[in-house]
Amino acid sequence: MKKISPDYNNMEYRRTGRSGLRLPALSLGLWHNFGATDDYNTGREVILKAFQSGITHFDLANNYGTPPGSAEENFGRMIGGDLASYRDELIISTKAGYRMWDGPYGDGGSRKYLLSSLDQSLRRMKLEYVDIFYSHRPDDETPMEETMMALDQAVRQGKALYAGISNYTDKQTRKAAGIMQNLGTPLIVNQIRYSMLDRRAESGLLDTLEELGTGCIAFSPLDQGLLTAKYLDGIPEGSRAGRPDGFLQPSQISREKLNIVRELNKIAAKRGQSLARMAVAWLLKDSRVSSVLIGARSISQLEENLQSFSDPGFTDNEVKEINQIFETKY
Ligand SMILES: NC(=O)c1ccc[n+]([C@@H]2O[C@H](COP(=O)([O-])OP(=O)(O)OC[C@H]3O[C@@H](n4cnc5c(N)ncnc54)[C@H](OP(=O)(O)O)[C@@H]3O)[C@@H](O)[C@H]2O)c1
Repeated sequence: MKKISPDYNNMEYRRTGRSGLRLPALSLGLWHNFGATDDYNTGREVILKAFQSGITHFDLANNYGTPPGSAEENFGRMIGGDLASYRDELIISTKAGYRMWDGPYGDGGSRKYLLSSLDQSLRRMKLEYVDIFYSHRPDDETPMEETMMALDQAVRQGKALYAGISNYTDKQTRKAAGIMQNLGTPLIVNQIRYSMLDRRAESGLLDTLEELGTGCIAFSPLDQGLLTAKYLDGIPEGSRAGRPDGFLQPSQISREKLNIVRELNKIAAKRGQSLARMAVAWLLKDSRVSSVLIGARSISQLEENLQSFSDPGFTDNEVKEINQIFETKY
């Protein structure tokens, strides 16, 4: 029986490049906060609240969670339970590309690794297919043709509905899209790091994606939590930078970054919103961004981030002020 009625009317759904797939303006990623060392019930509540709010897309990878694989296992529990009746209303993605198991076949971009890993992910998540299967990163030691053939085969086998890449540069994206076009399976999305603190995508990659008709999913939109006020007075206990298994290292929280964050925080305050909300809204203002892929450790973080997509856009003055912050030497 269906117990959840997702609030589809209050979420915006954007087309992924020129594909027919629409993604929610906000998607939820399970990299941190949903593994075996995290509280299962909190994670479950966050996921159910997200789906209830119209977030239809949940992003995973073979190595997510501590230990690697445990985020897929926990998500599989939900697929077998609370989410069992909703498979056709969900977009679930997974990836392979970083080291997952010992030996020469558990890392990189080989056909051997990608296809075995996808089978393992499907078993962990108790799924017959994922919606998007990604090459998690380019691999210089594998011909790109081989990696793309593995994605194409995953789609042809019905184990994935769409193919994607992640962390591919402008040039690599062009090459990958060309190979996929020849194979007859479109490359629908590149999942890239993009936030107010990392705007490299604005100098070329976003234009290329638009030209190719490939969508863009922006990951780490809060730069793992740096684009909030939380680190302005030190590293709070339990935060990503304060956890032994957190990917954000205290050394990455430089004085220069904190000075930028402090200035951005002032602009957010003038707009009457938190920096987290403003940081997500900044990415959503660009229609080439198909979805902004957030992480959230609690319902309150999720609720705050959810407000961003209904926030007002940016005035010319605000854009100028924000750009000036990045031009200033701190
Ligand atoms: N393809 C790739 O290579 C790749 C790489 C990275 C991520 N991703 C994907 O992108 C997803 C999101 O990445 P991310 O977790 O780095 O995203 P993020 O949204 O930049 O960071 C999430 C973290 O920010 C903090 N946070 C979130 N909302 C907050 C709020 N309203 N107020 C205060 N703090 C808040 C929380 O950290 P605390 O725990 O400190 O509270 C949360 O865990 C991942 O789960 C994954 O699916 C993909």
